[in-house]
Order: sequence, then C-alpha cells, then structure tokens
Amino acid sequence: MQPVDILMLKAMHPGVMSAVEARFTLHRLDLAPDPEAFFQEIGPRIRGLATGAQAPVDRALIARLPTLEIVASLGVGYDTIDTGAARERGIVVTHTPDVLTDEVADLALGLLLATVRQIPQADRYLRAGHWPRQTYPLTPTLRGRTVGILGLGRIGRAIATRLEGFGVAIAYHGRRRQPGVAYDYHPTLLGLAEAVNVLLVVAPGGPETTGLVDAAVLEALGPQGLVVNVARGSIIDEAALIQALQAGTILGAGLDVFAREPHVPPELIAMEHVVLLPHVGSASVHTRAAMGKLVVDNLTAWFDGRGPLTPVPETPWTTRP
Ligand code: 8YV
Repeated sequence: MQPVDILMLKAMHPGVMSAVEARFTLHRLDLAPDPEAFFQEIGPRIRGLATGAQAPVDRALIARLPTLEIVASLGVGYDTIDTGAARERGIVVTHTPDVLTDEVADLALGLLLATVRQIPQADRYLRAGHWPRQTYPLTPTLRGRTVGILGLGRIGRAIATRLEGFGVAIAYHGRRRQPGVAYDYHPTLLGLAEAVNVLLVVAPGGPETTGLVDAAVLEALGPQGLVVNVARGSIIDEAALIQALQAGTILGAGLDVFAREPHVPPELIAMEHVVLLPHVGSASVHTRAAMGKLVVDNLTAWFDGRGPLTPVPETPWTTRP
C-alpha cells in the first residue's frame, strides 16, 4: 500500500520526525526550494499535517490541501489553527492534552515562587558579587496570599492542587462555576482580581480570551498584586501590563508567554521586578517526547481507521461511515 503523505510546515521534535518517517512519507514545506511548486505537485496528495504552535494552520493553507483529513498538533493549545475551516472540510484536528499537564503546572508554581521571592534576581545579585558587601533585600512573600486562577481546566486544576500544598487560598474565574470544586468562584474576572493578589493565567488562547486581562483588571489586582501567565500572551493586554508594571499599579509579573513570541517588548526586558521565560512550560525532554508520541499516535490511529485519539472539541469525532 502506498504510504500516506504527511506534511510538516516546520521542523518538529526529532523523535516526531523520525517516527513519522518510519510510518509515512514525510514532506517538509520549510525545506521546499519552491513552495509554490510544492503545493502544485505534492499538495493534492497530502492527507495528514503534523504541526505545532509555531506553524499556524489557517484557512488559506487548508484550502491548498484538497485531500487533507487530519491536522495533528503538538501542544494542548491550538489557537493558531483555524478549527472552523477544518470542521467545514470534515478535517479532524488533534492536540496533545494531559501528557503535559503536570509539567506545565510545575513550571507555573516555579514561576510564581521565582516571581514573588525574586529567585532569578537574587541569583544574578550573587553572581555579580554583591553579597559580600550587602545581603539581598528582603522580598515579598507567598504567605497569606490568595491566588486567583483564570481558567480552571486540566492545567488550572493541577496548579490548584499544588497550591493547596502551599497553604494559600485559591479562587477562580471561568465561563462557569465548576461542580464539585470548593474554591471560591467569581463570575467576573474583575471580581476575581478584586478578591485576590495573585492572578494566574491558564486559559486557552483565541478570540474569546484575547485582551481579557486589561488595565481595569490589573488596577483591581492592586499594588501588591502579581500576574503569572503560563497560557498565551494574547490573553493579557501587553501594553496595559507594561504600563501597570512601570506605574506600580501592580507589584510584579512572571511571564512564560508573550503577545508576539519570540519577540519580547524591551520595556519588559529592562524591568527588574519581572521574571521572563521563553515559553518553556512543557519544554522538558520527558514531556516533549510524550507530546511528540501523541502526535504520531493520532496520525497512526487515524490512518489505521481507528479514529483520532485526542481530537479538539471543535472537530469532534464520531464514527464515520
Ligand atoms: C508548546 C504550548 O510549547 O501546549 C501548548 O499549548 O504552548 C506548549 O506546550 C507549544 O505548543 C509547542 O508547539
């Protein structure tokens, strides 16, 4: 049987590429000397697409792949994929939930502690040789704080479970109150921000959440407030955040994601009272290997006729005739 043609827009985890090559015919758009000729010649026979957040899949691209059946994406978030266009074509989109939940939740706690206790700053202070002359200034504390979680999904819940171990109060905001969840629920984000002094952003990216954390929310968080974002840069109005950090409207921030990755505003880079990470939430060898395996497993299951393993809600899978 003719191996199935799979397209990759950009290089992916080596494990993913070798696993795809082992089972399918892999085509790399980023290596095509003439992308136009590539789409003409090979586009019509591409049945599967393997991608990640760095390589958007928009309506125009989907239109150039007339026999596309599945988009297998690396990552739990899929805000760079036009699931509406896919659904219209009967194309299933899969992502990699669950296998990264604990890794991202661990990083979120690490980023929160690094931000409130200024761990990178103190490390730099020591390396710069300041300690023999002067001890590092006392920092704020996590003690007695209330952490508000924006987006109590899989990762949000894993973070909350970890926070319980730290003995802090937990509250949350999301589209609806979650049955069986004891944490305080706030029907509005503004209400949540008024009630807490740490805002932890863990909601999915996309039109529904773009700019949700705006100047009013930051104002409500207050001068002792901290923002931690391990979700998507688009959820926070980045200009308002910079303004709030410069004016002391809030105390600090810990950011693993940005509006225009990998570009980070110089104003943020210049600040001492923020911790900045290059989108490493799930970036461990262990977890990326598991994410990569799930991408390949989705493709394999699909082309074995077993259906997708982890389809996104927007392209649900029901057994098709
Ligand atoms: C990935 C992520 O780094 O899962 C997500 O949504 O943002 C990260 O785990 C990214 O998607 C890699 O493509």
